[in-house]
Amino acid sequence: CLEFDEEIPEWFAFPQVVAELKKTYPPRHKQGFTLFMTGLSGAGKSTLAKALYVKFMEMRDRPVTLLDGDIVRSNLSRELNFSREHREINVRRIGFVASEITKNRGIAICAPIAPYEESRRFNRDLISQYGGYIEIHMNTPFEVCELRDRKGLYAKAKQGKIKGVTGVDDPYIPPSEAEITIDTSNTTQAEAAQMVMTFLEKKGYIK
Ligand code: PPS
Repeated sequence: CLEFDEEIPEWFAFPQVVAELKKTYPPRHKQGFTLFMTGLSGAGKSTLAKALYVKFMEMRDRPVTLLDGDIVRSNLSRELNFSREHREINVRRIGFVASEITKNRGIAICAPIAPYEESRRFNRDLISQYGGYIEIHMNTPFEVCELRDRKGLYAKAKQGKIKGVTGVDDPYIPPSEAEITIDTSNTTQAEAAQMVMTFLEKKGYIK
């Protein structure tokens, strides 16, 4: 009989059986998980990420880490630009940090633009080995993001002051298998947070 926190010994069964057992053992509310938000600048990623961060902190259940796009850029990826190659490196770095947090049974909330499927898929495969990976597609329409333009990013792009802005002259490839999709042009902040909490409850990640 194995205790809750005990590692499942590899000799216990065939590798496939071990892999299956690891998905449900320990139970999900004791596993770590990553919430991986992706979407355009102004889609509401950071706002939702912060609201969820506060909720999880209040639960005092598991350690919570917020890996917001801007925070990562200025601390972990300062030397990177916004080319496809550098965006992919940046997103995989976020994935690696989130995988370590998930492995140690924490909660990682990531909120980069992450415009490409390759790095999102890479992170999904990596993180799922250690716990939950929940992709949240913030699919607020570009026109709404452009109107918000809190950072003046889109205005600068229009004036030709910067090039390679996602949604303007750089691509955003929508995820094909996001667990949750949220459009903040027709959802309040509280509703969006509740959608995520309900999903996590249904899947057993929180009680
Ligand atoms: S990525 O594609 O995932 O590596 O992007 P990310 O690290 O999330 O950085 C996005 C934030 O950087 C600001 N910014 C730009 N975004 C998109 N394209 C270009 N060219 C660009 N230059 C600067 C922008 O404010 C993004 O912040 P958010 O939080 O998404 O609004």
